[in-house]
Amino acid sequence: EKGGHDWFMLKEIAEQPQAVADTLLGRLGDDGRLVLDEVRLTDQDLRDIDKVFVVSCGTSYHAGLIAKYAIEHWTRIPVEVEVASEFRYRDPVLDRSTLVVVISQSGETMDTLMALRHAKDQKARVLAICNVNGSTIPRESDAVLYTHAGPEIAVASTKSFLAQIVACYLVGLFLAQIRGIKYTDEVAAIVEDIRGLPQAVEQVLTQMEPVRELGRSLADADTILFLGRHVGFPVALEGALKLKELAYIHAEGFAAGELKHGPIALIDQGTPVVVVVPSPRSRESVHGKVVSNIQEVRARGARTIVIAEEGDDDVLPYADHVIRVPRTPTLLAPIVTTVPLQVLACEIADTRGYDVDQPRNLAKSVTVE
Ligand code: F6R
Repeated sequence: EKGGHDWFMLKEIAEQPQAVADTLLGRLGDDGRLVLDEVRLTDQDLRDIDKVFVVSCGTSYHAGLIAKYAIEHWTRIPVEVEVASEFRYRDPVLDRSTLVVVISQSGETMDTLMALRHAKDQKARVLAICNVNGSTIPRESDAVLYTHAGPEIAVASTKSFLAQIVACYLVGLFLAQIRGIKYTDEVAAIVEDIRGLPQAVEQVLTQMEPVRELGRSLADADTILFLGRHVGFPVALEGALKLKELAYIHAEGFAAGELKHGPIALIDQGTPVVVVVPSPRSRESVHGKVVSNIQEVRARGARTIVIAEEGDDDVLPYADHVIRVPRTPTLLAPIVTTVPLQVLACEIADTRGYDVDQPRNLAKSVTVE
């Protein structure tokens, strides 16, 4: 049943190219128009949207953070992202021209469901991105886009996370299209790049043996830090969350630019620091800034584990370990950079002798607030 893998989680990591392909299947028309599964909204409702909230929990929240970068960039609509348990209790400003995107693998997460109900009470439009067909969250939403990641058995979310990110890209492109934002060459090119994502994930997966070996060497760490910038920041948060929940090792993700504002004091001799490096082609030289961050932590004794694009040799002087991912446009990079972090957490937990599929204190679906 685990398809030859030691854990469901490894099986589900291996299924990610398919999960991404299935989430795209039949949805990315040549005109960029997205086919939603259920729509109880008119095109006019969607054209009137002037603000987007993305509301979710845990790993699904990290998908939301990535969505913000893509949706704002492609649509120029302001996007706020918030954990569901906070959203409802702070009286957010919502009205009928607000779109609230709720993301939930299970469709049953109580915090997210309560946030959805609050949004609907305030007359906001609710779009659900969900993996479980017919679950409560999509049933109560105005529109639904299902991720087709297939059933996820391991408690830690992997393939559904990648599928959620893909679904968020589709929502961004759809909003851009429906609002008549002129398709720039960049957006047209992105559609082509999105079609290539399953192949890119496949390629990352062929290179995971050294990552597993690295994982085994990290099993005694007390703390592991994760740094990223731009869309690599949510990826760093996700890498830290996976490690906490599976390996019970203290882990934190930071925006690389925040390092000097405090977290750098944590770096000690041998502290493992995982750095998600943006593409050398990314805007505003964030790449160079992250390379400097690697150098800074290394100079303070960190053991640097660097996730960088193929051909990015700028990182080599400061990297103790380099994990390569295929060249990907900046906004799509999380689809490839997340994968080694999942494998790393899984391997570290396994080496420490823990049940990777059933971590202590956690449940697959959290139906209490
Ligand atoms: C992490 C994980 C949790 C869930 C969170 C939301 O691996 O599985 O953080 O992502 O509980 O669950 P859903 O997406 O079902 O609402």
